[in-house]
This record gives sequence, structure tokens and C-alpha cells, in this order.
Amino acid sequence: MDLRTALTAALRLQLEWGADEALAETPHDHFAPSPAAPEPASPAIPRPAAPASGVLPPAAARAAALAAACHSLDELRAALAAFDGCSLSETATNLVFNDGNPAAGLMLIGEAPGAEEDRIGKPFVGPSGQLLDRMLASIGLDRDHYLITNLIPWRPPGNRSPTDAEVMLCLPFLHRQIALVRPKLLLLLGGLAAKALLGGSAGITRLRGTWREIEIPGLLAPIPALATYHPAYLLRTPGAKRDAWADLLSLRRRLERQD
Ligand code: URA
Repeated sequence: MDLRTALTAALRLQLEWGADEALAETPHDHFAPSPAAPEPASPAIPRPAAPASGVLPPAAARAAALAAACHSLDELRAALAAFDGCSLSETATNLVFNDGNPAAGLMLIGEAPGAEEDRIGKPFVGPSGQLLDRMLASIGLDRDHYLITNLIPWRPPGNRSPTDAEVMLCLPFLHRQIALVRPKLLLLLGGLAAKALLGGSAGITRLRGTWREIEIPGLLAPIPALATYHPAYLLRTPGAKRDAWADLLSLRRRLERQD
């Protein structure tokens, strides 16, 4: 094989593996041990107490301890920005935390940021976000009426699905965000968010359309949650919009009952 063919094949392989964007001018070895990071200046990041043995717990336990030590959304955002246990943060351009109104009483939870969200640092600003905005506008809701976030706050390279390990690492931060926001209702967008929060193995087709109660660590009362299709799925499968519309009407009715 000549050099040109070999290089083209290597490039094609990288694309297949999801490396579809140049992130920097020079290559960076993401598997190399990171140099000791300087202490961040502000805002103050709550630090969980070091274990007596001095040995760092695994990343999932660190995530849980770090999240539990946060007492405001600003602290949680700062803790996530400083968390080095999830390799997705190394390939993402921006942390995508949340957008909208934390006091609105309604919280929407999607899957993970895509390319546009990663570039801008806000959830649901790309094509599926635009469809979601139109759908919610049809029941009279804009971003003042809800807070929107994702299960995973960093874009997985090439928009691949997050792994179970990545979901487990990020879940304590999402649970903490919900506990801090204390929404009255949750809308879960797509199978990944629905499964992560509702548990079990049922797919979104079975889960959607029925209100269920979710127990969140740190909250005394469970929160009513409705799962529906992810807007990216609706872009690919317009026939599913009828069910999604039924879910939106169910949400609208529930919101009216809360008023
Ligand atoms: N899809 C998601 O699940 N979240 C986003 O923020 C964008 C697309």
C-alpha cells in the first residue's frame, strides 16, 4: 500500500470512530497522565473530605461525593468544570450545563450535547433543540417556563451514544442538579434519559406517555416525570410526532393542574 492510500485509510478509520472534528492545531495525547492541576480561583468548589487512607476513590465515588458537597447550581457547575474523572470533558469544547429558568418548576432532561451545543455551551440549540423549541411553543412554553439540561454535560466525540460508564459517572451530578432545582415536574427526552432516571430495561416506546414518580437522593418527595421521544428521533421519524404531541398535551394538562 502506498503512503497516500495508507493515510487516507487511517483518516477514514478515525472518521468511523467518531473523530470528525479538529479540536486543536497540534495533536494531544488524552491518555497521557495529566500534570498536577492548579487550584481553581473562583467560584469556590466544595471539596469532599479526603479518604483516611489517602487513596482517591474511583471516579464514580468521587463524582458522587463532589456532587453531594454542592449547595447551589453555581457550585455544581464549577464542580463539574473541575471534575477530571470523565474523559468526555477532555474532547469537548465546552461544558454544557443548563439553560432556562431554574425557578420555573419544570425541568427537561435530554441526552448529551451535539456539535452546536458543544460550540456554544448551551443545551438544545442545534436542529433538535430548534424542533423542541417549536414543539414547546405550541403548548405555550419558552425557556422562561422551564430549565433544560442533559444527562451528560459534555459532547461525546462524533455524537456517539454515551457509554453506561459515562452515564454512571454523570448521574450523581444530574441527581444533585435536580435536588437543587426541586422542580415540580420532569420531562425526560428520549430513552437514555428515561432509562437512567426511571431505571429498568424498558425502551422509550414502552416508557413514554405515562407519568411516573422518580425518587431523587436528597429530596423527601418523589417527582412526577413524563418520558417522551427525543426531538432528534422525531426529526428522523416524523410518524412518531403524533405520540409526542399527545405527551405534550399531557404535560400541558399537568402544568395547568399545578397552577
Ligand atoms: N440532544 C440532546 O440530548 N441534548 C442537547 O443538548 C442537544 C441535542
